[in-house]
Parts: sequence; structure tokens; C-alpha cells
Amino acid sequence: MKKMLTMMLLFVVILSCIPLYSASAKDDQYDVIKKRGEIRVGLSADYAPYEFEQTVNGKSRYVGIDIELAKKVAKDLGVDLKIVDMSFDSLLGSLKTGKIDIIISGMSPTPERRKEVDFTEQYMQVTQRMIVQKKNQDKLKTVEDFSGKSIGVQKQTTQEALAQKEIPDANLSSLTRVPEIIMSLNSGKVDGIILEGPVGDAYLSKNPGLAYSSLEFADAAKGTAIAVPKDSQQLLDQLNASIAEVKDKGLIKDYQDKANEAMFEEGSFLSKYGNYFIKGIGATILISIIGVVLGSLFGGILAFMKLSRNKILKSIAWIYIEFIRGTPLLVQVFLVYFGTTAVLGLDLSAFLCGAIALVLNCAAYIAEIFRAGINAVDKGQMEAARSLGLSHSQAMNKVIMPQAIKNILPALGNEFITVIKESSIVSVIGVSELMFNAQKVQGASFDPFTPLLLAAVAYFILTFTLSRVMNVVERRMSVSD
Ligand code: ARG
Repeated sequence: MKKMLTMMLLFVVILSCIPLYSASAKDDQYDVIKKRGEIRVGLSADYAPYEFEQTVNGKSRYVGIDIELAKKVAKDLGVDLKIVDMSFDSLLGSLKTGKIDIIISGMSPTPERRKEVDFTEQYMQVTQRMIVQKKNQDKLKTVEDFSGKSIGVQKQTTQEALAQKEIPDANLSSLTRVPEIIMSLNSGKVDGIILEGPVGDAYLSKNPGLAYSSLEFADAAKGTAIAVPKDSQQLLDQLNASIAEVKDKGLIKDYQDKANEAMFEEGSFLSKYGNYFIKGIGATILISIIGVVLGSLFGGILAFMKLSRNKILKSIAWIYIEFIRGTPLLVQVFLVYFGTTAVLGLDLSAFLCGAIALVLNCAAYIAEIFRAGINAVDKGQMEAARSLGLSHSQAMNKVIMPQAIKNILPALGNEFITVIKESSIVSVIGVSELMFNAQKVQGASFDPFTPLLLAAVAYFILTFTLSRVMNVVERRMSVSD
């Protein structure tokens, strides 16, 4: 008990040594961008006609009003453009930790957000609309009609705030991505959803079962602007100059026309989106292999540390394993993604961060698999080997490990299967693995269901094949008994 307490204490001390948030010394972001020769624009490409993906001849690209604006901004700055696609609720965090330079994602400058970041002048005005199933159009017309009903909104958006304020008697269901919201409405999980006018138009055109409710919000008008890190006046001025020109020349109208054209392209589902799934499967396999292989190396070391007689090594391994197993992978992924920039000052790609998080996570589980496998070998084996004159390490290598492997291998196979499924979590930071790509297709096709079904089938084929292979391996090994 006392030992446990000391370890816990040690753990808390270690944690408190990590600086919680260390904003990097402030240069005007303008200089950073100029020096790099590239501007990183963060957005959530689930928001036609602002930003979404379009596939032409099997190649995908970002399109929409915000993308055109981003191109214009990059051109005016004289730098290259890099689009960084992630979930809307990760954008502000990414801007503050320097993962991205600016946000152009249909974002409205609210007072709460202004505390965290700066905003340019607004480049568009939009209204907020309530969408319902067509068959309920006559029943759901006023705020009162929605009392006790459930309403879907995108997480951390102005729509979420609007619902809380104006329809407090409804149950709110906040989801990460717009296609999920549409799906909840289509399937009757929620009774209404709030979207901005142009986005609503886009989805209504592809979902004939949905319609606008005649409900009107008191505080409906909202503008959209570009978000910029605080204390970057030069960047802000530059962006405002671009926006002023866009407004003067009426370019937003052109951008919108272009986006509308891109939205309604012809082609079969698979010819348009098949590529996303193939690429996604490749990335999922790659990141899972990295997780299991490097995780095994690291996990092996941890297992020996935990089995060793050295108290310090043992405690370190114990703390590590308990911490990893006691926290969700989702949290670990975010910790690595934001932590590498905010705490360590490293600028790693999303894929690398996702892979690191998976390796760190796998290592803890695999360490336990190793330890259990080794411990399961009868104690008498070690004693017998030692009494035959083998040293401790010889006995380990020649007698214990060959038997332990038989316990370890099947469990390792299971871990691999788990990792393939769990790796879907790294989609939150924008690693384009299978789940992320399926979500992209949801956004691009305005069809929230089919891409999920295809992703499920793909995951199943991967894990099922792997478990068959593992069965064969296991059978082979039991033959050698
Ligand atoms: N205008 C709303 C806001 O600022 C929603 C924006 C959502 N954007 C997106 N790309 N999903 O909160």
C-alpha cells in the first residue's frame, strides 16, 4: 500500500513538471509564414459550399468559397497554400498551438472566440436555418414545437450556442461533423438540425426527405471571418486588404458559383470515391503495422523493466503502463498532437503524431502481453534450467522464451486486430486513414451512410483475414508441441 502511494506521488510529481501550456515566443505570424514560404490554412472540409472535397478523375481536391478565398490570400501574400483538414472543434486549439497559421472555415467571430484569437473583417453574411424531416414540416414550426424534442448541431459552433439560447427546452445533440448531423435527422434520431443557409441548401438538394422549418431565430444573422493568432497585426492587415479587394470586386459571388458547380458533378459512387477507400486502407494498414512493430520493441523493453529486480526500472515501467492503460487513446492522440508543438516545440505531421500515439499506446498493452506470457511459464522450468548449470540469461533465452512465445504470439495477433480498429481514432487529428477518408466521402457525396457502410466492410475484411491467419499460425505452433 505504501509502495503504491509512493509511486502515485512520483507520478503526480512527474506530471506536474510538464509545463501545461507554453505559448512560443511571439513573432508576428506574418513573418513566420513569409519565412516558411507557405501558409497553412486550417478548415473542416465538411461544409459545402464553403469547403469540401471534389473528386475529378480519381484525384481529389479541396473546393469551395473558403478555398478560393484561401488561394487569393496565399497569392496576395506571395506564398504557397497548404490546406490542413481537421474536425471543426480542433481548429481553435490548432491555431493557438501553431499547427496552422489561420482558420478559414466558415467561422463566425463570436465574443468567446475573440478572447482566444483575432478575426479579420467579415467576408460573408449568412442566416441560421432549422431543417426537419419533410413529413414533420407542418408539426415543427415554432420554438414551442421543439420543446422536449431533440436538435442536432455541430460541436462548438454558433449553431450550438444558438440552440442553447433560443430553444432551451429542447435536448441538444452536439456532433463533430455535419454529415453525422444529417444522418441523425434522416434516421429520426433528432427532430431538427440547425445549419447555415448555404450549407442547408447544399444538403437539402441531395436529401429529398428533408426540408426547412418555418421557425425563425431572433438572432439569426451571422458573419464569417478569418481567424488569426493574437498579436499578429501585420498578418491581420494583410488579410483585411485581401478581403476588402474580394468584396470590392464582388468575388464571393464568383466563388459561390464555382462551388455550386463542383457540388453537382456526375459519376458513379465508386468511380468518384473508390480511391479514398483504397488509400485509406493502405494508410490504416501502415499505421497499424508501425504501431504493433515499434510497440512490440518498446513493449518488450517495458516488460523486462517490469520483471527486473531493479526497483527504479520497475516503477517507471509500472507508472507508464498504468497511465497508458488508464487513459483513453483519444486523449493520448490529442496529447501527442498538441503536446509535440506546445510543449516540445516540434512540428510533426499528423501522420507521425498519430503513429507515435499508437506506438506509445500499443507498447503498454504489449508489455503486459509479454509479461503475462513469460510469467505463465512454469516456475519449475527456470529452476530446472538453473540446476543444469545455465546462467539466468541463458535459461531465459533457451528455455523460458521459446515457451513464452507460444503464449505471446496469439495475444499479439489479437492486439494487431485491436490496433487496426482503434487506429480509426487518429482520424480526429486529420490522418487520412480509412475512417478519415470515409468521413471525407460523407462530406463530398452528401451521403452520410454509404461511406460508413463501406468503411465497416473494409475494416471487417482486414480484421477477419488477420484473425484467420492467426488461427493458422496458432495451429502450426500447437503441432510443434
Ligand atoms: N459558422 C459556424 C461557426 O462559426 C459554423 C462553422 C462550421 N464550419 C465548418 N467548416 N464545419 O461556429
